[in-house]
Amino acid sequence: MPTTSPRALGPELVLAGRLGKDVDVLVVALSTSEDGLELVITDDISGDALAAELLDAFEAVGATGKADEIIRIPAPAALDVTSVLAVGLGKSADIDIERIRRSAGTAARALSGTSIAATTLSALDLGAAAEGFFLGAYTFTEFKSALSAPTSEAGPLGRVELLVADPRAREVKDELTRSVAIAESVAIARDFVNTPPSHLYPEKFAARAKTLGTAAGLSVEVLDDKALEKGGYGGIHGVGKGSSRLPRLVRLTHSGGKRKSKKVALVGKGITFDTGGISIKPAAGMENMTSDMAGAAAVIATVILAAKVGLELDIVATVPMAENMPSGTAQRPGDVLTQYGGITVEVINTDAEGRLVLADAIVRACEDDPDYLIDTATLTGAQVVALGNRTPGVMGTDEFRDRVAEISQAVGEDAWAMPLPGEIRRELDSRVADLANVTNGRAGGMLAAALFLKEFVADGVQWAHIDVAGPAFNTGGPFGYIGKGGTGVPVRTMFAVLEDIVENG
Ligand code: BES
Ligand code: MN
Ligand code: ZN
Repeated sequence: MPTTSPRALGPELVLAGRLGKDVDVLVVALSTSEDGLELVITDDISGDALAAELLDAFEAVGATGKADEIIRIPAPAALDVTSVLAVGLGKSADIDIERIRRSAGTAARALSGTSIAATTLSALDLGAAAEGFFLGAYTFTEFKSALSAPTSEAGPLGRVELLVADPRAREVKDELTRSVAIAESVAIARDFVNTPPSHLYPEKFAARAKTLGTAAGLSVEVLDDKALEKGGYGGIHGVGKGSSRLPRLVRLTHSGGKRKSKKVALVGKGITFDTGGISIKPAAGMENMTSDMAGAAAVIATVILAAKVGLELDIVATVPMAENMPSGTAQRPGDVLTQYGGITVEVINTDAEGRLVLADAIVRACEDDPDYLIDTATLTGAQVVALGNRTPGVMGTDEFRDRVAEISQAVGEDAWAMPLPGEIRRELDSRVADLANVTNGRAGGMLAAALFLKEFVADGVQWAHIDVAGPAFNTGGPFGYIGKGGTGVPVRTMFAVLEDIVENG
């Protein structure tokens, strides 16, 4: 990851009223209805006759319009492009914003190597098309040397012209600006997650967060290990002390609030690599623990986004960063540590490290007296067992938890509300300390982790904890606007919640 000059995070997105010159590929959308295959909005750019010709051509090559289907044909003579690519939107009755975003992403992935594309998807929903194209075109090639360059596909998608009825309208321009800012921040989170642990360890992560945060207008404070130990951050220190790369705590502040506006705290788990520590993980799949700082990446990207768009809200992101390693200086199972604020914890399993660093950060964040606190983390394998790889679990105070889940579903990140059963809390009682960091069995592992965190949230704070163990990192094949590796989840959820708080308090 470059620390000096920022790379282009995605294709250039521009508005257009009609098909420009030099466009290589026109991307149109097909859907299905009871009347058969439909071409979704092309009359504006092509006129009825051409639209009918395109539809016939796609039908002739077997297009069905099913969701994410990709079919490419040579352009009809009347169109000044090389080819026309159709992406499926599925049943027309089922088309929603997320469907458009995903189809745009699928189209963008099919366009790698294309210099200039234009699309009509933007006439359906500009923001969704912009985000889908930008994020679908995202690639992470930082560590590909010249050796792999000739075999990989030609360069990334260069530019997308988004066709809309009125490209000069203020609202249209504003919508594009907003969507590009959102997509760029998702890409910032993805870059952090995709950077390997050899190159992203606490010191580097903190420095990079500071560079990006400062550039966006945030004030940034970094506590190093000495300051953490002295300050009583026993969780971050305890987890981090097994590594030669010592921990950090980063605080990024956006002061955008007006007189009566709410204060929001964001907290994200920043374990730059999780071996499990002395309670070491099995080798198979351990490499995926490069993603264990995805919560941190998401909150850093979100507060940067808030600054970029000038959200009228006071937001402080508190981000603990540590590497969980086994060594002669590592904490042991059975050790007792004192969290920031004084609660003592028996560390029964050193692999339940996320909650230890988060507890310190949550207590610190609550000292600022926030109205709302959102924390997010790749916290438990149990999240994946309960909800799968694409559905974050959200727990917390009832009302705010439900609000976050609803907003997450509206933006297509699909978080699902989960309960905090009282009987599980009792299993966190410790023989020697105030709390144990794990329960005895595996039952309700995601909920147990959240119940542990709940102990550290100050009374009166509306709290949501988003477990993204599965959704933050895609180990399967690409889909929609999500490629392999870091996904940027839950940046769009958190940003939409912040916007909702600005709007509704
Ligand atoms: N970072 C892991 C959770 C994780 C698992 C993230 C899979 C992404 C994919 C976390 O630190 C962890 O190890 N959790 C333990 C908790 C257990 C010891 C109670 C787990 O889930 O096994
Ligand atoms: Mn762990
Ligand atoms: Zn972890």
